[in-house]
Amino acid sequence: MPQWLKDAVFYEIYPQSFYDTNGDGIGDIEGIIQKLDYVKGLGCNSIWLNPIYDSPFMDAGYDVRDYYKVAPRYGTNDDLVRLFEEAHKRDMHILLDLVPGHTSDQHPWFLEAKKAEKNKYSDRYIFTKSVWDAPPEYRMMCGICQRDGNYMVNYFSSQPALNYGFYKVDYPQWQMSFDSPEAKATAEAMKNVMRFWLDKGADGFRVDMADSLVKNDDEKIATAKIWRDIRKMLDSEYPDAAIVSEWCNPVRSINNSGFHMDFYLDHYGNGYSKLFRYEKDGENRAFFSRNGKGNIMDFLNEYIPNLEKTKDNGYICFMTNNHDMPRMTHYADRETVKLAFATLFTLPGVPFLYYGDEIGMNYQGCLTSKEGGYSRTGSRTPMQWDSSKNLGFSTADICYLPVDTGKDAPTVENQKDDENSIYKVVTDMLALRKANKDLGNQGTIDIVFARENSYPFVFKRGKFIISVNPSGEDATIPFDYEVKETLYALGKTEVKGGKLTAYAGSFVIYCI
Ligand code: GLC
Ligand code: CA
Repeated sequence: MPQWLKDAVFYEIYPQSFYDTNGDGIGDIEGIIQKLDYVKGLGCNSIWLNPIYDSPFMDAGYDVRDYYKVAPRYGTNDDLVRLFEEAHKRDMHILLDLVPGHTSDQHPWFLEAKKAEKNKYSDRYIFTKSVWDAPPEYRMMCGICQRDGNYMVNYFSSQPALNYGFYKVDYPQWQMSFDSPEAKATAEAMKNVMRFWLDKGADGFRVDMADSLVKNDDEKIATAKIWRDIRKMLDSEYPDAAIVSEWCNPVRSINNSGFHMDFYLDHYGNGYSKLFRYEKDGENRAFFSRNGKGNIMDFLNEYIPNLEKTKDNGYICFMTNNHDMPRMTHYADRETVKLAFATLFTLPGVPFLYYGDEIGMNYQGCLTSKEGGYSRTGSRTPMQWDSSKNLGFSTADICYLPVDTGKDAPTVENQKDDENSIYKVVTDMLALRKANKDLGNQGTIDIVFARENSYPFVFKRGKFIISVNPSGEDATIPFDYEVKETLYALGKTEVKGGKLTAYAGSFVIYCI
């Protein structure tokens, strides 16, 4: 286990929207280098960079055309190496995004695989034996290659699935076993991609659709085997490299596959979604909502058992948001967002802050889709730095995406010194987390008060008790701890005569 994960706090950077230094309207690597001190100043000592590889950008770079080359719009491989070096000088770590499940349909491997003549890459993807063969249970692209066969896609149509084989082979004519040399060659190719960037100074990878490798693998047995093998490679060749999976199944990811971290993703109806982003029958039913219709138990009944099962092997990661879902400001008012972030940063695991969430950027719901973003586009708009042109993102006349034109658009400049800003809560909380080990990535969590459809939620982390009540109603509960000191408070909480009163819209950290 890389030791640096113990106190890692990540900042996710969507590179095209962070900071443009050459005036072409697109964020670049040089821009990230120039903002490293800013990121560090927030209290984030690590960065996850969305894909920066050469790509036709049908899915914002998740359609990789060349795993070994930085997309020219972001800079060069040398620029990326410089970013690694500059980060390391500041004791920071950088994770690249690894997309192992598919490539772009413009990737040279795929251009070869499509050809009628058999060649070195004919089995790098999953093709049926004839164009008339297209079992409906698989997502296939049909009749668009010279080669007589259809190919499977992993996500969008422009993203053919790489061939890691099948766990259960239903059609032996064209499905290869996960044990076949062809399937194994794909995993070896991906290991080489990892080695290439780790040798250049990357500190690890966020792994895209980590569970998608082997097909017909419902229990993810063969997929886990590939990752365990990759983890073995890392342990022996790059023991400080970290991998975090986009999986949302900590037992399979951390325990069975050897990931150091797994994201608790927003899957509609799961525990994480019921904290922050859960609407039902047209009504907000998330726990973090003023209307008080959430149920904290929906989260805890899922999270606590997963935590118990995996805590000795890795971290379950909470994020404020990512590039795939609406920002929290879309669901909750700014005061509630503060309570949500404050709570999130007191939970165990390695936390992830999405760029712009520290200032409470808005979700731009009306934008036309950009580079395969669709509904996700609104969370991918340019970072808002100051009051200058394009809110300081770029000097270009046209940007990658329009910047927030709202009169009240938050910027780093107007939030930084505002005592009541989300920025203040985020930076305060990250400083407290750093200063108090009990609040950090590794500490324990014990539930003090949590009831079905009830507020507040109170939990203990070592010598701290945290209470949060996002609802619009005051709530009083029995409480038999002696409070020595208040470490941090938003709104008002009171302890008196064996009772704790969490006033509407409150958060507190007590030392006991
Ligand atoms: C992941 C990424 C998403 C991308 C998809 C396909 O879910 O987070 O942005 O579109 O995988 O690679
Ligand atoms: Ca640029």
